[in-house]
Amino acid sequence: MNCRQLLILLVVTCTASAQSLRHEAERAGFLVGTAVNPKYLSEPAYAATLAHEYNMLEPEDAMKWYALRPDEKTMNFDPADRLVEFAIAHGMKVRGHTLLWGGHDPRWLASHTPGQLSQLLQDHIQRVVGRYKGKVFAWDVVNEAFDQNGKLKDSVWYNQPGIGLASQGTAYIEQAFRWAHAADPQALLFYNEAEAEGMNAKSDAVYAMARDFKQRAVPFSGVGLQMHILDLNADLPGIAANISRLTALGLQVHVTELDVALPVDAAGNPLHPEDLTTQAEIYRQIAAVCLQHPGCTALQTWGFTDKYSWIGWFTHKTKGAALPFDQQYKPKPAYEALQQTLVRQLRATH
Ligand code: XIL
Repeated sequence: MNCRQLLILLVVTCTASAQSLRHEAERAGFLVGTAVNPKYLSEPAYAATLAHEYNMLEPEDAMKWYALRPDEKTMNFDPADRLVEFAIAHGMKVRGHTLLWGGHDPRWLASHTPGQLSQLLQDHIQRVVGRYKGKVFAWDVVNEAFDQNGKLKDSVWYNQPGIGLASQGTAYIEQAFRWAHAADPQALLFYNEAEAEGMNAKSDAVYAMARDFKQRAVPFSGVGLQMHILDLNADLPGIAANISRLTALGLQVHVTELDVALPVDAAGNPLHPEDLTTQAEIYRQIAAVCLQHPGCTALQTWGFTDKYSWIGWFTHKTKGAALPFDQQYKPKPAYEALQQTLVRQLRATH
């Protein structure tokens, strides 16, 4: 390569790396997203970074049962509506999260019989999916139904008391997918799970359910892999094997909740600055594994600025700094890693 060619290459590379994540993703029909909270949309840096960098958003909490239905009579769509409006105004797709999650149900549900619960769930899915028909392109229909051993977790929907299908294993999950499909036949329908990224008993159970649903033509589009990494260590070969087996079924995989937590001080800053490099490497590798599989069609982080991450709450403030932008919205090495990986891999394959 002569000097002139080298100069052109440098200019092209530098120009490419100056673009946003969303710019790179859109050129290739890929989705790069983040969880969002409507209460921060009024903060200019929050809204500007969100609209500039991402072509997909997902309400972090605003579409959960406890947010939409604080009591039996109230339906509060306002916060979710604001996020959907923001997405439409900025040409972004919306992932809906989540229609059935045994973990965080409002207390008032507990006093119902199976028949009432079944009616409530069907009605909820019809109303929520119906309201956002044509606006939410994909739903996490069911979230976190399996335990570490691959057994279905106890929940108000499954067996306590359940919607009347507990003796039939995953039938209650299937029912939720069928109701969601009836409410919006165009929407992609996902099962979303935590700690089932690599190969383990839980991901085996998810895979078995996915294969069964696919074989019996249950309306089922794919699996969301949350990808909360809490110990600076990602099992890349396991993640690759799991994405391979799921996409081999003809299903899509979305990475739905990626974050990489670091030990932090009381102000939320990394205790060991060198961890930022390790963190960036994990972001790079996970993005690369997703992009290597054509069926892995979206990469989403659980928030984008360290200013507002759930990790502090989840780890009693021992960990944080888990996202691609710091507390001042400055791109971190993790951001650069994501950006470079999108440039390199999407341009190579699309
Ligand atoms: C978390 C939110 O980030 C918090 O704001 C909320 O208090 C609890 O839920 N898996 C999921 C997400 O599917 O819905 C969770 O979100 C994080 C773990």
